[in-house]
Amino acid sequence: MRILVVGAGTMGAGIAQACLAAGHEVSLHDAHEEAVTAARAVIADGLGRAAAKDRLDGRDPDDLLGALRLEGGAAASAAADADVVIEAVAEDAGVKARVWSELGAAAPAGALLSSNTSSLSITGLAATSGRPERFCGLHFFNPVAVLPLVEVVRGEETPEGVMEEAEGFACGLGKTPIRCLDRPGFLVNRLLIPYLNEAANLADEAVAEPAAIDQAMRLGANMPIGPLALADLVGLDVVLAVMESLHEELGDPRYRPAPALRRKVRAGRLGRKSGRGFHDYGGEA
Ligand SMILES: NC(=O)c1ccc[n+]([C@@H]2O[C@H](COP(=O)([O-])OP(=O)(O)OC[C@H]3O[C@@H](n4cnc5c(N)ncnc54)[C@H](O)[C@@H]3O)[C@@H](O)[C@H]2O)c1
Repeated sequence: MRILVVGAGTMGAGIAQACLAAGHEVSLHDAHEEAVTAARAVIADGLGRAAAKDRLDGRDPDDLLGALRLEGGAAASAAADADVVIEAVAEDAGVKARVWSELGAAAPAGALLSSNTSSLSITGLAATSGRPERFCGLHFFNPVAVLPLVEVVRGEETPEGVMEEAEGFACGLGKTPIRCLDRPGFLVNRLLIPYLNEAANLADEAVAEPAAIDQAMRLGANMPIGPLALADLVGLDVVLAVMESLHEELGDPRYRPAPALRRKVRAGRLGRKSGRGFHDYGGEA
């Protein structure tokens, strides 16, 4: 199939690589040309690693990379021959609305239209595309090459047939689709992010030291990583943004962002990426 991935950042590059590895032709578009060039290098590296680990069924990574087309210019012109469109542009409602009003007008009638958004409404994006009857959420997880889950999100107007197409597509990528309704946080973030937030509340209340909170969940709940270390890995700004969105959309005080999160984000302590969050990684911030 011909897949158009719009947005060549962390997720777009990962999704494009997964599609190439499954034998699809992939067009990768970004508004910034340097992003597409950087993504190509990331994908080449990723396919090389997959080949070294014998995960490409003996296929040559260079041959697979040959099926990658880099698209500058307008996303709409790249959409004209797409069977599947996956949008993974920046998590900004205005940007996504502009992109979808163009893509919706340009994609072929039978194309499957999907967004990788983590926090915006699939129903809202589907409406901006003007093609809600072909639209669903395909929510991949980072890093795409490692994590097998894809949440297949049903918007208000998504028909059963589109859900089935999307599940079949995800299975073809070697992923495990799990369907859910279009509710804030879908499944994983609705469960995971409030858990990380509650760990931040515990740290704020000095119930235990951050290292002890993490160790307790590793040793007592068999978690592979403690919640504060995981929050640092995800980025405290991202955790805060998701909590704010859950709080606003669901209106329940139990989703109130932990004050410790706000303070750390204001101080520029965003976790691993800034060198410091709940734990110290030897950085400047
Ligand atoms: N990073 C994660 O862990 C993660 C996980 C799951 C889902 N998501 C979702 O995936 C999407 C992308 O996230 P990311 O982490 O890859 O972001 P990113 O910042 O790494 O990449 C976003 C890309 O979008 C491009 N872009 C911005 N405006 C554009 C436009 N008008 N047209 C085309 N390209 C444009 C940017 O140049 C950038 O390359 C977001 O919706 C995010 O919520 C992210």
